Amino acid sequence: MQYGTGKAEGGNGTELMEQADDKLIAEATKARERAYAPYSNFKVGAAVATDSGDIYIGCNVESASYGLTVCAERVAIWKGISRGEKRFNKIAVVVDTDELTPPCGVCRQIIWEFCGDVPVVLANLEGKTETVQMSELLPRAFDSKFLK
Ligand code: THU
Repeated sequence: MQYGTGKAEGGNGTELMEQADDKLIAEATKARERAYAPYSNFKVGAAVATDSGDIYIGCNVESASYGLTVCAERVAIWKGISRGEKRFNKIAVVVDTDELTPPCGVCRQIIWEFCGDVPVVLANLEGKTETVQMSELLPRAFDSKFLK
C-alpha cells in the first residue's frame, strides 16, 4: 500500500488513514527520544511521510549558541530532501505537552514550501492527537509564486 493515500482495495479508507497516522506518530515519538535539547529540555520529534511510502524522522538539535538550534520538523524535511524526496504528504509532531504543540513559525514556512497544504498531525505522549491543515496554520503564505 502506498503510504498516506488512505486507500487500498477492499479496505476502509478512514481506518487505513488512522493506521498511517499511528505509524507516523510512533516514528515521531521514537525520534523525540533522540532530541538534543540540553538547554530547553523541550524534546520534539517529527516524522514526514513521502508519496513514495517512506518516512523521514527528525528531532530538535540545540546549540550552545541558542539561535543555531534546529527544530525537529526541519531536520525531518531536510533529511528527506537530501535523499532526493520531492513529494511529502503528511507530517507528525510529537511533544510531551498537555496542550498539543504546533510547529513554530519558521517551521510553518518550511513545511508550506516543501510539503504544501498537508495535514499536520499533532500528538502528545498520552495519546491525544489532532490534525490541522497547513493552510490553517499558515494562511496567505508567502512562497515561490510571488518571486516569478
Ligand atoms: N522546537 C521544535 O523542535 N519544533 C517546534 O516547532 C517548536 C520548537 C524546539 C526548538 C528548541 O530546541 C525547543 O523546541 C524549544 O524551543
